[in-house]
Amino acid sequence: MTDIHKGLAGVVVDTTAVSKVNPETNSLLYRGYPVQELAATQPFEAVTLLLWHGELPTADELAAFEREERALRPLDPRTLALLDTLPGTAHPMDVVRTVVSQLGACDDTLHGPGAWTDPELDLARARYLFAQLPTVVAAVQRRRRGLAPIPPRDDLDYASNFLWMTFGELPSAAAVDVFRVSMVLYAEHSFNASTFTARVIASTTADLYSAVVGAIGALKGPLHGGANEAVMHLFDEIGSAERVGPWLDRALAEKRKIMGFGHRVYKRGDSRVPTMRAALEVLLEESGDTGLAELYETLEREFVARKGIYPNLDYPSGPAYRLLGFDTEIFTPLFVAARVTGWTAHIMEQAAANALIRPLSAYDGPEERHVPQG
Ligand code: SDX
Repeated sequence: MTDIHKGLAGVVVDTTAVSKVNPETNSLLYRGYPVQELAATQPFEAVTLLLWHGELPTADELAAFEREERALRPLDPRTLALLDTLPGTAHPMDVVRTVVSQLGACDDTLHGPGAWTDPELDLARARYLFAQLPTVVAAVQRRRRGLAPIPPRDDLDYASNFLWMTFGELPSAAAVDVFRVSMVLYAEHSFNASTFTARVIASTTADLYSAVVGAIGALKGPLHGGANEAVMHLFDEIGSAERVGPWLDRALAEKRKIMGFGHRVYKRGDSRVPTMRAALEVLLEESGDTGLAELYETLEREFVARKGIYPNLDYPSGPAYRLLGFDTEIFTPLFVAARVTGWTAHIMEQAAANALIRPLSAYDGPEERHVPQG
């Protein structure tokens, strides 16, 4: 009997130098650096360069990237026109996926032999997507509220500009920092489902945009990136800390998955949670929202006590994004904006030492049979 590795659980499919997840020590390293150190000290732009190039940038390299990134932020009129044609009822993840697909269709550098996988062009495409996604996501958020997009500012860093374009006011230093930390923590996590999807697509030597579009599709599901949105729906459904106990009894009796808990790799807690939890704490204190804080604590305490399953990054990031002012349906697009760095790092790593990803399956359908004659 062939060994079947359902869900590829426990299967090592390739090497990567981008990040190391170690569930034994509950640690996550980006190119060797503990993610907590990066979150404490680095702008998201520097972490992005680290993920792409393997080293933290010098001050000059960072400044050059910042200049380039700021120049790439404004949306093409075709993107603004596309946003206007999509129904207001479309899920923001569907809108973001569609826009990235359009950016690929409009990228003239894809024409010509070898252009789909040219390393220099791929790096330029990665920078372009990195710079464009915040402008897209902010425009989608504003459109949901009946508001016109706000053009990017080139005097603001990534995190400040993202919040400026979304809310039209300069955010507090604390809000910028929480948002920056969330971007750093969401940026990369080895062979998760969306990154693996991107690598599968890249392995066919299709272009980088196609791989990112596929990754966005994979991220949408609540078992993966969609969980940060789903956590907030759970909070809204439960309503308050007093209702957690009976709600949890019923949910577990119905065998529901409790969003924001559990992980395929970490079994004793997600390495990123303490950092994001501390960031959330800042917003909770600033807002004085004791109801949300109590609900958060109570659900975590009671679920861990009953099942021994710990929160993942989506558990603290969902409420943090709500307190920053985003609509719940925008949470996963924020994850896209962060993870595009990891996806593109992996797409380029896959391309540099490519082998077509094509596993085997064990057939369990009918034995050979034949169409009746006559
Ligand atoms: C992300 O891979 C990555 O690195 C992903 C990610 C990244 O940065 O890219 O970290 C981001 O995707 C985080 C995960 C977000 N998803 C959720 O929060 C959804 C809720 N969680 C689960 O459904 C679940 O924990 C998964 C999908 C995350 C992991 O699932 P596995 O590894 O396939 O494990 P499983 O579903 O087979 O669970 C094993 C047992 C089951 O019980 P038994 O059938 O053995 O009795 O644990 C139970 C599960 O029912 N369980 C849960 C649960 N998580 C696991 N039960 C209730 N609620 C949960 N959340």
